[in-house]
Amino acid sequence: MSGSKGVRNRRIAGSRIFPPMNSSASPRLPEKQTVLHSWTAQDRWDAPTVVGGAGAHFITADGRQILDLSSQSECCNLGHQHPAVVNAIKLQADRLCYIANAWGAEPRARLAELLLEKSGFRGGRVFFTLGGADANEHAVKFARQAQGRARGLVIARDRSYHGASYATMAYSGDTRTREGADPAAHRVIHALPPYAYRSPFGPGTDEECGLRAAAHVEALIAREGAHEVAAVLMEPDAGTNGIVPPESYWPALRKVTRRSGTLLIADEVMSGFGRCGDWFAWQRYGEAGRPDLMTLAKGLTGAHLPLGAVVLSAEVAKRLEQEMLYTGLTYCGHPLSCAAGVAAIEAYAAEDLIARSRRLGALMFDELTDMHGRHAVIGDVRGGHGLFAVLEFVADRGTRAPLAEWPSTPPALSALVRDGLDAGVSFATRGNLLLLAPPLVIAEQDLFDALSLLDCLLRQHFPSATP
Ligand SMILES: Cc1ncc(COP(=O)(O)O)c(C=O)c1O
Repeated sequence: MSGSKGVRNRRIAGSRIFPPMNSSASPRLPEKQTVLHSWTAQDRWDAPTVVGGAGAHFITADGRQILDLSSQSECCNLGHQHPAVVNAIKLQADRLCYIANAWGAEPRARLAELLLEKSGFRGGRVFFTLGGADANEHAVKFARQAQGRARGLVIARDRSYHGASYATMAYSGDTRTREGADPAAHRVIHALPPYAYRSPFGPGTDEECGLRAAAHVEALIAREGAHEVAAVLMEPDAGTNGIVPPESYWPALRKVTRRSGTLLIADEVMSGFGRCGDWFAWQRYGEAGRPDLMTLAKGLTGAHLPLGAVVLSAEVAKRLEQEMLYTGLTYCGHPLSCAAGVAAIEAYAAEDLIARSRRLGALMFDELTDMHGRHAVIGDVRGGHGLFAVLEFVADRGTRAPLAEWPSTPPALSALVRDGLDAGVSFATRGNLLLLAPPLVIAEQDLFDALSLLDCLLRQHFPSATP
C-alpha cells in the first residue's frame, strides 16, 4: 500500500528456509477441491497456503511474510512457532506421545498444577478437553452435576459465542447458528447482553448498562426459580461477538449468582492467557470476580496443539469428589498438548507477556482512540485491557446506524482487509467489527506500523467520513 508508514510487504526465499515436504505429504489436488473450510461458502474460499511462521509473522508458500494482527483465531498469543513450545513438543514426542486419561501423565499433572496456581483455584481440579466448545459443554455438565440438577437451566446471553458443537450453538447467542440448535431443548435461556454502545436497557451510562445487565440475569433466575437454574455461562471480556462489557458488569454478575446459589462459569477461551491483560480476565476484579468454574483453550498452548480445559473451584470439585464422572474423551489430557501447555505457561511467565500485553494494549487503545477522532466511520472503540480491541463501524455516528446489517460484513471493510493483506498485514473482521488481537510477542514497532497502515486504509476506503 503506498502511503503506509513502515509496513513492508516482505518477501523471503521460502524454499531456502522451508525444505520441501517429502512427496507423500504434498497434496496432489488443490486444497479448494478437497477440504471443507469453516465460516465460509466453499466457492468463495481463496486463501494463500501458509508454510511457516516466526513471532508475530506467518509465511505464505509464495514467500510473503504477513504480520498477524489477529493471532489467527485470537489464539496464537505466543506468536508462531514459539521455540520453547516447539521444543517441548519434540521432547515429549520422543518420550511419550499418548497415554489414555485413565493413566497418569506427568505433563498433564504439571499443567493442572500450573493452572490452579495461576488462577489461585487452590484445592480445585482441572478437566482437559480438546478445545473451547467441549470445555464449555463439560463445564455445564460439571456444574449441573455439582448442583444435583442433571437438566438444570443454563443462562447464557445474546451476542455471545461459546463454540460450534450443537450444545454450544445452543449456549451461544449467535445469529449465524441460531436456526441450527434449539436452546430450549438444551435447557438454555438467553439474557440481554451488556452491550453499552447499543444498550438493550435504554439510555444511561456504560456502567449503568453493566449493572442492569447483571440485574436482568438476577430477574431471570428469580423468574425461573433459583432451584431450576444450574449455572450462568458468560464471557467476562474478549469474544468474537465483539462486546466488551462495562467494568461494573462482571463483579455485579458474580454477586447475583452468589446470592441465588447459581454457579458462575467464565468462558475465558479467548480472554485468557494475557489477551485481556491478566492471566484470566476475571482477575482484574480480584476475589470479587472469581467464578466457580472457568473454561480455557486457545492461548492455553498458544495454539501450538489443540487443548481445552475446565478449571473447577475447590468447592465445586469437592461436590464431585464422591460422584461417578460419566464423561470421557479419548484424547483428554493428551501428553503432547499438555507438554505444549506447560511450556506455553512458562513462556508467558519468563517473558513477562501478561504485563507486556497490558502495556501494549493500552498504547494500542490510545492509537485507536485517536483514529476514532479522525474517522467518523468508527462508531466505538472497546477493549484495551490487553492486546485486544474492537472497532465498531457505523454509517452515521449520530444515529449509530450500523454500516451493514449484523452479521454481514460491509464490502468496504472487506476491501480494507484485502488491501491490508496486500500490504503484508492480516486484520480480522466480524460483521461491522474489526477485531485487533496481535500476538503478545509482537514487536512494538510492528504494532505501530500496522496501526498506521490501518489509519491509512481507513482514509482510503472511507474518504468522506471525517467527524
Ligand atoms: C469465547 C469463546 N468460547 C468458545 C470458543 C470455542 O472454542 P473452539 O473453537 O476451540 O471450540 C471460542 C472460539 O472462538 C470463543 O471465542
